[in-house]
This record gives sequence, structure tokens and C-alpha cells, in this order.
Amino acid sequence: MSKPVFLGVAWPYASGSRHVGHLAGAYLPADIFARQQRMVGNEVLMVSGSDAHGTPITVRAEAEKVTPQDIVDRYHAEFVEQFKQLGVSWDLYTTTATQMHKETVQEMFMKHLEAGFIDRRVSEQFFDPEVERFLPDRYVEGTCPTCGYADARGDQCDHCGRTLDPVDLVEPRSKLSGASPILRETEHFYFRFSDFTEQIQQYLATKKGWRSHVINFAAGIAEEGLHDRAITRDITWGIELPVDDLGEGKRIYVWYDAVIGYLSASKEWAQRQGDNEKWRHWWENDDARHVYFVGKDNIPFHALFWPAQLMGEGNLRLPDDLPANQYVTFKGGEKASSSRGVGLTIGEGLEMFDPDALRFALAANFPEHADTDISKTEIARRVNEELVATWGNLVNRVLAMVHKTCDGQIPELGSLESEDKALLAEVDGYFSEASTQFEAVELKAALQTAMKAARAVNTYLNATEPWRVVKENQQRGSDILHTALSAINGVRVLFAPYLPFSASALDAILGEPAGWQRAEITAGTPIAKPTPLFNKIELEEALD
Ligand code: MF3
Ligand code: ZN
Repeated sequence: MSKPVFLGVAWPYASGSRHVGHLAGAYLPADIFARQQRMVGNEVLMVSGSDAHGTPITVRAEAEKVTPQDIVDRYHAEFVEQFKQLGVSWDLYTTTATQMHKETVQEMFMKHLEAGFIDRRVSEQFFDPEVERFLPDRYVEGTCPTCGYADARGDQCDHCGRTLDPVDLVEPRSKLSGASPILRETEHFYFRFSDFTEQIQQYLATKKGWRSHVINFAAGIAEEGLHDRAITRDITWGIELPVDDLGEGKRIYVWYDAVIGYLSASKEWAQRQGDNEKWRHWWENDDARHVYFVGKDNIPFHALFWPAQLMGEGNLRLPDDLPANQYVTFKGGEKASSSRGVGLTIGEGLEMFDPDALRFALAANFPEHADTDISKTEIARRVNEELVATWGNLVNRVLAMVHKTCDGQIPELGSLESEDKALLAEVDGYFSEASTQFEAVELKAALQTAMKAARAVNTYLNATEPWRVVKENQQRGSDILHTALSAINGVRVLFAPYLPFSASALDAILGEPAGWQRAEITAGTPIAKPTPLFNKIELEEALD
């Protein structure tokens, strides 16, 4: 039974190069899950795009003395190119700067306004007396009122993950001048999140199956009750308000706008498909499943605020699953930081490693349940000791033997011995194990299942020794090779979501796989002298 599956993937701010932690946190797990779901036969719609608004962009533009648009153009182009090199199979990767997005955001704003979920309030906000400007979000830094972290930003504390308002910060300082901000009155639209506290609590109560760190964090905040939040800002970069009540110099807050990207991108995708209504199949369908891939700092926005926005809209599917990842860390627990030179950017990763190798090593270290340290040495070790040694060499060895001893083609099968049947049954069994793991979005575990399947074939070859048998008994030798290749024809499917480039190299030899299963191989298929699927990585020294 084919099922519509929507994959929403966190929209990277087009404000700077992303590091491999972002890749392991959201984009790569989403792509792996999408590829597996397509093989299962589900109707996958996977969208994301560059987040073009907000103070991350304007702070950077001001620091470089260029326009925000310059910044967005530069990093959007970088992301698009890197996703292509990495084989991330978006159905649509767009930006929040499209006309479709603007209209969708303004439409939802009007709906919320008319339904009474948005109201106007005057409040005191931080203002920089030296440069005479309001200081929204990341223009202010200070100490987190909850955990005491000294470098919390006005929108969120990086240490405890709490979302903040700049005025919550202790000892605030302006990023523009370093001055202590003063308070000044300003008028904004607020979203009445507090109206949704109970509904959100009930919604989260149905999500007991979510990863414990995700549900615990989200339910903990919901338990305290949601707070109304301003959804406009004193800023000139962002989506214009669809009503002019507040006068000049106001824009919609980036987080109210960005999450609506999931919907607007689905509409843009439908439009590009030539069927403007097609998005409804995922958004207005009780049979659809909505899975969101985000890093843990994005949990409040996807578990609380976006569901509340959707509830306020009334008619659209809420997130069903939120398999948020924890952080990738470097140098034994440090967070990536471009200013301190900690971490590995996606660009650097792609310069050093082949895309499948990078994908493999990151997937083997996905921070699904805990922060996980990564280094270049660890990537190389995973690739050499596991990917090359266990899987690449296996494929190479079997293809080379078939080529050499079976007239360069898949041999006709004589009969199967019990050890042959046992291997094929074992590989088939790993499909049900991996399917369960994929259902639960346990992608690190499902990769280990593929590795177990590869090891089973290696064990089988060591026990049956076709290279020796073939010299004494050609039929038995080629039956063993047929069996090994048949097993490999299954194992490659288990690996395919993780390793799309080597998977298509194998497709060229063995044919496209018949979905998420081990299919029989066809005798007579030509097998040329193989070239290695992966290269060993030579690191001269241990690198972090
Ligand atoms: N731009 C945000 C970040 O990098 C993520 C936005 S995700 C979306 O943290 F939900 F808003 F789309
Ligand atoms: Zn904090």
C-alpha cells in the first residue's frame, strides 16, 4: 500500500557555510529516509530551501558591508551546489524569497488575524542609543536567564536550547555598538500561542513514541504553558505585513515565516508539476505521514510553534514525527564554530572525501540520541575499516571471481545447498529488521543492519571458499558465486539509501533494484572486470 509521506527538512539560513554537523543533523538523515521510503513504494514529497530572512542574514551583511540579498545569493548557490554533489534528492529545494512563499505567509497571517489568534500589542523592546536602531533577535547578546550561559543570543540560547526574547537576557549588549541597550516602546503583532497550550499538550501526549530527548524537551516547555510571542520585528529585511496598521519599518518575524516554507514549497512543487492542487494530497489527507528532520535547536519551533500555527489554520496535517538529532561535536565535545576554527564545513568535507564515503561515515555516527564527536580521522577509519573492508571489497571480490571464472557473466544456477539457502534467508531477514528501523527512523541502526548483511556474505565466502572449489567442481563453484551475488543483490538495496553513487554504479551492472527487497539475479547478465566502488583514504596524520 503506497502512502503519501511528507518530509520537511530544516531550512538552512543562507547566512554562512554549513558544517558537517548540519549535514548529519538534518539533510542527510532526511535524504536517506526519503530514498528508503521511495524504494518501499511510498509517495515521498521532500522539500526544503534556504532561509533567506532574519537577523542571521542582516547581521552578516552589515559586518561585510554588502546587502542581505548578496549574502543570500552567495550561500544559496553554495548550498544548492553542495546538495547536488552530496546526492541529496530533494523534490524541491527553494528559498523563502519566492513570491509563492510570500503569498502563502501573508495568507496564513490573515487567517490567524481574522480568527483572532493574532493581536496588536505595545511593548518595550531593546534599542541601541548610539546607532538609534531597534535591536531584534541576534542584534543583542547576553546571559541566558534560564541556564546562565554568557553568550546567549536574543532569539535563543545555544546552551539550553530555550527560545528567548532579547529583553529576557541578563546584562544585554548591542551587537551593533556594544552599548547597553535601552528600552523603547514599539508596537507589534503577537501570535497568541497561549491559546494553544492545552491543544499542544494533548497533541504531544499522543507522541510518546518520539525520541525521548525530543518529547521530553517539548513536553517540558508545553507543561509550563506557551507564551504569546511577537511575530513582527522592527527590521526592513523580511516579508511585508499584509496589513499596514503598524506603519513603516516592520517585517514578519523570520520564524513565523520560515516554517510556513514547508507549505509554500509544497505548493511551488505542485505548480512546477503542472497541477496546482497536488500539494493537498500530502497536506489535506488523513493517510499522509509528516516527518520533520531538524537539529535539536529547532525542536521548539517544530514541536510547539509550527503545530500551533497549523492548528490556528485549521485544516492542515500536523507533524507526525520529529526525529530531531542532537549535535555533532568536534575535538572531544566542542560545538562547531567558524570564528574559533572548530569543525568541518560541508565544503571542506567534500574536498577531502568522496560523497558516499562522507555519507557513510556521518550516518555511522548520526547523533540520534546523544551528541556525537566526529573528526577527519574518525571519518577515514569508518571508511577504511568498514565501508571499504567489509562492503567495497566484498563486491569487488565477487564480481571479479564471476568475471574470471564464469565466462564474464552471471552463471546459470544448478542447485542450492542448505548453506546457500541459509545465507539468502539471513539477508532477507535483514530487510525486515531494517524496515522496522526505518519506520522508527533509526538510521544509524539500519546502516548497521546493512553492515551485518555484508558481513554475513563475507562469512559465507570464507566458509564456502569458491576460489578453491571452482578449480575442483566448476558447477558447485559457480553455484556459490551465484548465491553470493544474489545475496549482494539484496545487500546493495540495504545500502542504497546511504550510498547513492555506488548504488547507481551497481545498478549499471546488476540492473535497477525491484524496490525494497532482494530480487533474484538473471543468469547471462554480463559482468565486466570490476573497478573498486570506494577508495581507501590515506591520512598522513590523525586529524580532528
Ligand atoms: N533557518 C533555521 C536554522 O538554521 C531553520 C529554519 S527551519 C524552518 O536554524 F522550519 F523554519 F523551516
Ligand atoms: Zn540557556
